[in-house]
Amino acid sequence: MSKKNKKDFLTLKDYDSKTISYLLDIAGDVKSDPLKYSKVLEGKNIALLFDKHSTRTRLSFEAGISQMGGNAIYLDAKNLQLSRGETHADTAKIFSLYLDAVVIRTFSHRTVEIFAEEGSIPVINGLTDMYHPCQVLSDLFTIKEAGLLSPGPKITYMGDSNNVTNSLMVGLSKLGIKITISSPSEYKPGQEIMKYIESIKGSNVSIVSDPVKAAEDADIVYTDVWISMGDAESDQKVKKLSSYQLNRELLSHAAKDVIIMHCLPAHRGEEITAEVLDGSNSIVLKQAENRLYAQKALLAYIFES
Ligand code: CP
Ligand code: NVA
Repeated sequence: MSKKNKKDFLTLKDYDSKTISYLLDIAGDVKSDPLKYSKVLEGKNIALLFDKHSTRTRLSFEAGISQMGGNAIYLDAKNLQLSRGETHADTAKIFSLYLDAVVIRTFSHRTVEIFAEEGSIPVINGLTDMYHPCQVLSDLFTIKEAGLLSPGPKITYMGDSNNVTNSLMVGLSKLGIKITISSPSEYKPGQEIMKYIESIKGSNVSIVSDPVKAAEDADIVYTDVWISMGDAESDQKVKKLSSYQLNRELLSHAAKDVIIMHCLPAHRGEEITAEVLDGSNSIVLKQAENRLYAQKALLAYIFES
């Protein structure tokens, strides 16, 4: 694969609706016929360079790569010369000598961009402070499986506006699907991402600060932690967000069969009650399971000849 033709996956911003739909189709195929993909990564070495904790992303990539005949190499960034000052650009060039792709979980989004620019292998964003595209690719697949990936249903994201929110807004907007974001004004999506969203043809994002209004008649309510990895702990923030907690009372305003989504890990009793997280309307385990199929689909697409 030449540097020019390599397929990076840094953010869904770089993907058009046709390619996103294609990836979702492959995910369905991977799920129903995994054996068809068992040799796709034969002879390929894929590193997972992680600067932050992970359970789902790490395991689903490691298992998925192995199921596709490839070799996953987990690297804790702390143990690399990176942590002693070797630059990202130099590291990217070295990775490109030995590896076929790299999945990176880190703080600054600029880091994954540098790897993509300086190296010659595909770079997959396994979460940065700005975006979590692997999560949202999988969530789009989960929403599609639930029969709700269309402009009709009301999809609400409630709580802190973070990397998952940004990717959700981008992914849904690319597909022409409306999303309501409900956060207190201090924690609503930033100007830069909103400007980008407005530039997407057919985008329809409403910012509704009143959580009851945002929950009203919602078919899907999605939430994520209030303090993301790398964020400072803040009692004030938690207090401000308390009326955005997914609990029985707030969800009584939603559609009767509302679907509850959370990328996990959850802080039970903070952004969501245990009763809601474990309740019959919650599809959080399906979301976690689908990470495997969506990422295998992404890898199949990246190495497609
Ligand atoms: N949802 C998600 O990315 O989980 P991990 O942080 O466990 O990878
Ligand atoms: N917003 C969360 C997502 C974790 C998967 C974080 O960045 O910590």
